[in-house]
Amino acid sequence: MKKSLNQIPTTQERWKEVLQQNYGTPSITLVKGKGVEVWDESGKKYLDFLGGIATNILGHAHPAIVKAVSAQVRELSHVSNLYAHLPGVELAERLQDLVGDPTARVFFCNSGAEANEAAIKIARLSGRKNIISTTGSFHGRTMGALSITGQEAKRAPFYPLLSDVKFLPYGDLAAMIKHVNRKTAMVIVEPIQGENGVVTPQTGYLAAIRELCDDYGVLFAIDAVQTGMGRTGQWFGYEQENIQPDIITLAKGLGGGLPLGAMITVGKKTPAFKPGEHGTTFGANPIACAAANAAIDYLVTKNVLASVTKAEIYLKKNLSSLPGVVEVRGRGLLLGIVLDEQIAEKVATQAVKNGILVNSPNKNVIRIAPALNVTALQMQIFIRQFKKTLKEAQND
Ligand SMILES: Cc1ncc(COP(=O)(O)O)c(C=O)c1O
Repeated sequence: MKKSLNQIPTTQERWKEVLQQNYGTPSITLVKGKGVEVWDESGKKYLDFLGGIATNILGHAHPAIVKAVSAQVRELSHVSNLYAHLPGVELAERLQDLVGDPTARVFFCNSGAEANEAAIKIARLSGRKNIISTTGSFHGRTMGALSITGQEAKRAPFYPLLSDVKFLPYGDLAAMIKHVNRKTAMVIVEPIQGENGVVTPQTGYLAAIRELCDDYGVLFAIDAVQTGMGRTGQWFGYEQENIQPDIITLAKGLGGGLPLGAMITVGKKTPAFKPGEHGTTFGANPIACAAANAAIDYLVTKNVLASVTKAEIYLKKNLSSLPGVVEVRGRGLLLGIVLDEQIAEKVATQAVKNGILVNSPNKNVIRIAPALNVTALQMQIFIRQFKKTLKEAQND
């Protein structure tokens, strides 16, 4: 880096010099967080209403997570999967309980993409090849997960991807009925398409796919990476349809801020990995599992999921009445504020100036996904600042 001695480069300049530009260069550098609040390197405070993109279910530096992680890192760090350890077994037990089926079996990994890779491999073990996914879906960036992601712009530079994948319009049941058959290995669907702008299908969509999959012996996979771990006010985001999927994939909120993913198979007929068929070195890292156990225990003992639904009602009511907002969609604390103009990117940029962090998954939608323990006061401040932001962006 050629700089004169008295010219100290900014963090953004340093980022550009050493990091791939796949995320562009972020406008701010965060140095500290507490709950829903974060601070940048100049000391400016923000309300983090994106939560690491639907990841920090208890916010930053939550005492329960700090305590669990500190205790675990002092005791035992990484052991690989050649040895059992309690944090991993206990987390799998908790997940089996939450899924509500004693046949549930967990494979731990590190990310959402990896969880979906595992799901694809489980689908192959059924002996069938064809996978049905939906247009607009997002399942991750690795080659397998990208192959089942229904967003052309993300796929195009990387062809050829896996073949035998069909994309059907999200929410279109007639298309499912037409295309699901005895050659289909797996149908994979998100309960809400978060990356596509928080798109929610009509009630009954998931239940009807469940029935269809049963009729043709097809595996039904729910990608709960974004909707999981209480974010929608339910544990995984499909419960309102009273269904049990054959495969559930998780990441984001699972680790309470630490990198952790999981692929869960449910039911005796669902294929399972045999020794040697799959693996990952960091899967079930004890420290990440300890964080996840602490996060789940906190959510359960404090009944946080009930407050998520109350927060949804409050935010929807107050945000949907703002000038320029068409509707607020989504469930729980995964909400999409739909604007009447294509100014979402401008709004997200202006929001940073006004001390709130949000993002724009597409041109007219702002996504918010704050920590599940966000307070009433923080929501009030957010609404005030969002109103100001929107007005400024509209008049710009
Ligand atoms: C529904 C869904 N699936 C999978 C992924 C990929 O997860 P990761 O980025 O952890 O690989 C995401 C990420 O946004 C997601 O929203």
